Amino acid sequence: MTAYRKVAKVLKGRRTSDGAGVKLTRLFSNETVTLTDPFLLLDFFGSDRPEDYMAGFPLHPHRGIETVTYMLDGYVDHQDSIGNKGSIGPGDVQWMTAGNGILHEEMPQRSEGWMCGLQLWVNLPRAKKMMTPRYRGVLSGSIPRVELDDGSVVKVIAGEFQGSRGPVEDLVVNAEYLDVNLRSGTSLEHKVPKDMNTFAMVYGGSLLFGGAQEVTSGNVAVFGSGDAVSVVGGEKGARFILVSGTPLHEPIAWGGPIVMNTGEELDKAFLELKNGTFIKTAP
Ligand code: FE2
Repeated sequence: MTAYRKVAKVLKGRRTSDGAGVKLTRLFSNETVTLTDPFLLLDFFGSDRPEDYMAGFPLHPHRGIETVTYMLDGYVDHQDSIGNKGSIGPGDVQWMTAGNGILHEEMPQRSEGWMCGLQLWVNLPRAKKMMTPRYRGVLSGSIPRVELDDGSVVKVIAGEFQGSRGPVEDLVVNAEYLDVNLRSGTSLEHKVPKDMNTFAMVYGGSLLFGGAQEVTSGNVAVFGSGDAVSVVGGEKGARFILVSGTPLHEPIAWGGPIVMNTGEELDKAFLELKNGTFIKTAP
């Protein structure tokens, strides 16, 4: 018999700003990391007012983590210290493994309509924190779309849904990333291996769980243990990401954009930033 995962906790997004002053909603961060391990942070940025996002995220470092940027609308131009440069457009994904260190900038471009997307940070295990940086740009057209009978759509960015595999393979940390557009009243069941942590971030409409609980747009449902997730689209349907990953259960030393295992490693990273030896990998 299938043991459905119940909602263990609802994390309410809070409005904040980051970078050079980009307004965004932070769904989770360091306070809740044991619940979401191996995922460290999730931000949703979305606005139709360029003044909310044009300041962007000028050159900044990362070490010990991966940043996964998924654009829903609009464009973010980027470049980094390992020689990548380009634009992430609607439906595109950038899966960037900072490893031993990168410097990059992420600059949203002026849009007539909405500019919105999500950035997820995936922690790296101790053995891989200082790996050579790796960069993957995935175009929208290479992301499989699985259409359900009623027109609901599941896009498979990483992992597998009903036999379709996402293009982001060979991950350092075992993870699955689905983007779902669920019609009102439609139920979706998805098996998630027992050892993985799972959450759903709702960014449009609402999701119903177990017939009674509703999680609305701008919030995250963190699931408890079990074999599978079962959700139903709310009155206006639901747009959400369903993300799962195998937890690392390692100590975390978190200093802004750098996440290591110990305070000494963190101090070393900031010292290297100061004395110009942070970057280990040239373009
Ligand atoms: Fe960044």
